[in-house]
Amino acid sequence: MRMVDLIEKKRDGKALLKDEIDFMIEGYTTGTVPDYQISALAMAIYFQGMNEEETALLTDAIVRSGETIDLSAIKGIKVDKHSTGGVGDTTTLVLAPLVASVGVPVAKMSGRGLGHTGGTIDKLEAIKGFSVEITNDTFIDLVNKNRVAVIGQTDNLTPADKKLYSLRDVTATVNSIPLIASSIMSKKIASGADAIVLDVKTGAGAFMKEFDETKKLAKAMVKIGNDLGKKTSAIISDMGQPLGYAIGNALEVKEAIDTLQGKGPDDLSELCLTLGSHMVVFAEKAKSLEEARGLLKQSLQSGKALSHFKLFIESQGGDSSVIDDVSKLPKAKYEMEVKSQKEGYVSNIIADKLGTAAMMLGAGRATKTSTIDLSVGLELRKKVGDYVKEGETIVVVHSNNQQIEDILLRIIDSYTIKKEKTSTPHLIYDVIT
Ligand code: URA
Ligand code: CA
Repeated sequence: MRMVDLIEKKRDGKALLKDEIDFMIEGYTTGTVPDYQISALAMAIYFQGMNEEETALLTDAIVRSGETIDLSAIKGIKVDKHSTGGVGDTTTLVLAPLVASVGVPVAKMSGRGLGHTGGTIDKLEAIKGFSVEITNDTFIDLVNKNRVAVIGQTDNLTPADKKLYSLRDVTATVNSIPLIASSIMSKKIASGADAIVLDVKTGAGAFMKEFDETKKLAKAMVKIGNDLGKKTSAIISDMGQPLGYAIGNALEVKEAIDTLQGKGPDDLSELCLTLGSHMVVFAEKAKSLEEARGLLKQSLQSGKALSHFKLFIESQGGDSSVIDDVSKLPKAKYEMEVKSQKEGYVSNIIADKLGTAAMMLGAGRATKTSTIDLSVGLELRKKVGDYVKEGETIVVVHSNNQQIEDILLRIIDSYTIKKEKTSTPHLIYDVIT
């Protein structure tokens, strides 16, 4: 088989076969197929697309390029949740202990944040002592014992995706639905869960900004999951504005604690109940979404979810007393208030712009090697639909530096305030099963 023939085939809009896809992914992983030929192929896929079968075959080939995690030693149906990445997206911190508290085993492999979106591991590390550097055996033991554990991403998972994703980044081929869908799903499938609930974000803060494109991506991912034998569903949720009020690691831990106490922001709480209900049904702990939601709400009200968070923190070396005393979380030196220059209704908040402002404060990484400051971030006081008076605080900035005029300007620019009343935006746009 010759790579040049496969490039030509795809360039002319024909479908690639299983052995052809395997040849190219194996060759690329081991180095017998060079970057320039994969670049050309990625561009051909970008323009010609791939059918559903090809996309599933590609995903499967990427899964087989490296190690896969065997979770069979964990009792019960393991359900994973994956978000395509958002600003101030605190859901995993809430969902993991919440669904575990009603009996769903959560074996979560998580990553660190990059750019304007945060990572779950960074957030958890805002809790003193918390560590995700645990062995696979400890990970499995903890899930069997407490039904929840989080581990850092293994280096040998889907090596073909690592190479391909970096290559796409510099060849203008990231934005292709079959390539994105196979990239995300290969990582989920290699991490060993039995079922997958996807939170696919749409809007300014998401990497898919248009709803129609987001829906195509969600459908492609659900189809791949189901074709490869994993029950999969996708919730399309809003990332036009940030989720909840907090953006930044320690601030989001505090927000998660509030939410687990049943006093979290409405949007974050609702998204957690929606995603959580799908997870509970997949894990066969409830027969319907309504029944699942009831179980989750009860756990929030009774304090069961919060005590499960405590157990989870302690089992991974963290200081769980932060739950009763959030002043033990890392705290920034300065709090600065950004005030509205107008009176009216907030009609828009550009999530990625605020995400970048939080990153510039030090809450996120500009590059893979940047270090982050767990204490800094933004606390929104106003969200879309809220009424605001001139001079009223819209955002509280937590910073360790006082010279941040550019960041403050960026925050002001993220808000649009208009005379006309605007309604609160939709949170859940669609559910794909
Ligand atoms: N996230 C991924 O993991 N892969 C993509 O291709 C795009 C977003
Ligand atoms: Ca948040």
